Amino acid sequence: MFQNFFHLTKRFWFSLKPQELSEKDLNWVRSHLSESEFAYWEKLSTADKDHSFRVAKQAESEIGEQGKEFMAAALLHDIGKLESRFTTFGRVFATLWCLFFPFRKMEKWEERTKGLRRRLIDYAKHPELGAELLKGIDSKQQTIAWVLEHHSEREKWETPKEIAEILSSSDKE
Ligand SMILES: [Fe+2]
Ligand SMILES: [Fe+2]
Repeated sequence: MFQNFFHLTKRFWFSLKPQELSEKDLNWVRSHLSESEFAYWEKLSTADKDHSFRVAKQAESEIGEQGKEFMAAALLHDIGKLESRFTTFGRVFATLWCLFFPFRKMEKWEERTKGLRRRLIDYAKHPELGAELLKGIDSKQQTIAWVLEHHSEREKWETPKEIAEILSSSDKE
């Protein structure tokens, strides 16, 4: 948990001063996504775009040759966060909440259609929401699989282990 906490603290400081990506970096992102995937990716907050770009860049040297769908997975893994629409501080709150408050205790809020609890549920479910969103466009099965399982335990990964390890450790950098 402490490693996770360290990673989240680092993410928080980065998210206070998110980098706007250069035109060159945006073109790089575009080249790894379909048109509709890119249209959704563009809607992410500056901090989430910056994070996804770093994850994909970090993973590129090791998985770049093995398939565009895995690079798309690196770029889109947190796309489900579009649903919860939190600002930076809201995201930190939501992340800490999800870290200390078991999801099963939140399940009773599932019927809510709006409000903070609805948004916390959506935040906690960002892997499922992201996978659903990508199923509705033209994403590849391997991309959807990693988006869905990127916070799951290793034993449940469907993504080939060596690729999943790279994607997971890039997400923790
Ligand atoms: Fe995530
Ligand atoms: Fe992430």
